[in-house]
Amino acid sequence: MKELSHLVSTVEESRTLAITALIKKLKSEGKKVLSFSAGEPDFNTPAFIKEAGIEAINNNYTRYTASEGSPELIRAVISKFKNDNGLDFAPENILISNGAKHSIYNVILSVCNPGDEVIIQSPYWVSYPEIIKLAGAKCVLIDAGPKAHYKITPLQLERAITPKTKAFIFNSPSNPTGAVYSKEEIYALAEVLKDKGIYVISDEIYEKILFDGRTHFPMATIPWMHNYVITVNGVSKAFAMTGWRIGFAAGPKEIIRLARNLQSHSTSNPNSIAQAASVAALTKEVAELPEMVAEFRKRRDFIVGELNKINGIFCPPIDGAFYAFFDVSCFYGKQWKNTLINDSGTFCGFLLEEAQIGLVPGIAFGNDNCVRMSFACSMEDLRKGVTILRESLDSL
Ligand SMILES: Cc1ncc(COP(=O)(O)O)c(C=O)c1O
Repeated sequence: MKELSHLVSTVEESRTLAITALIKKLKSEGKKVLSFSAGEPDFNTPAFIKEAGIEAINNNYTRYTASEGSPELIRAVISKFKNDNGLDFAPENILISNGAKHSIYNVILSVCNPGDEVIIQSPYWVSYPEIIKLAGAKCVLIDAGPKAHYKITPLQLERAITPKTKAFIFNSPSNPTGAVYSKEEIYALAEVLKDKGIYVISDEIYEKILFDGRTHFPMATIPWMHNYVITVNGVSKAFAMTGWRIGFAAGPKEIIRLARNLQSHSTSNPNSIAQAASVAALTKEVAELPEMVAEFRKRRDFIVGELNKINGIFCPPIDGAFYAFFDVSCFYGKQWKNTLINDSGTFCGFLLEEAQIGLVPGIAFGNDNCVRMSFACSMEDLRKGVTILRESLDSL
């Protein structure tokens, strides 16, 4: 066999998707696994959005659209940015992709050259480092652990910048930590970036899942950042539309032009039917959204309270998204059967095999002392899960 791609060989399998697949496999073998690995809302897509998709099929809206997205959806995205974020964009500033992940991929590949450095904070969303690698660029990590409530400081950002820094990826609300930066904190980071020509890819996919009256502050609204920020968002999380695969990017037209060209030679347009459904999602009142957020908040209150009652676990406040990310390193060094639990992988392996609880190892997000527990599941499962978790850890 001839040698395969060196570049693609450096890319790791998505660990979050891998654990989800393993849990599904165990379930299909009849094992009763309580999974807390989901990276998607457990709610259904609202009925009127589904109907817009069905109508699109019945109206034969089933052909290629413009590769960068249909004019209708581009218009809807422009209004979304205007109404939700106070941002003005023209159609040439917008790219519609097959999910926000695809937008991020297209944008990073359009911005980076081999040897460039891209700053991300750790814990990070699982795909950033792998996409940066594919661009031939280098990841520069800034550590923000639980004690810092998973937020970086302006000084940390300043220290990470070198003449090679091309971009900074910013994600608030965050997956995996649920951390949300305030307007003041974002301004302080932007102050560090002023006049440095560094691009910011601002991943705002959890924008609408915020708790306790927190508001979302888009980095691109800061006057001196506007020409440097590429804002990424999508319909997956806010409208429970993960399977429809629609995301979008908005930013300087030179970058968007390259990203559009790249997409035109890989996937072409995102699914036409999903685009039509997304127009409905973005242009109509979604009554289900506040109900979904209220439900996430209830679960958040429960899970943070319960986790922090377990001896040795520290779970910082969660201000947005639907994940708890907590330190379990005090259990490292314990023996379970023939296995020494000494990292987040062996810890999650122990819970999966011994207690049939599915959590995601923190190493997938760059922090091997932690694990991620999604609360996109029923209260009943959360109650059962946390009880089993406590008992299993007591048994160690
Ligand atoms: C932080 C973050 N960004 C982007 C995405 C990608 O979302 P999608 O491709 O479903 O639009 C996800 C999904 O889990 C995410 O958590």
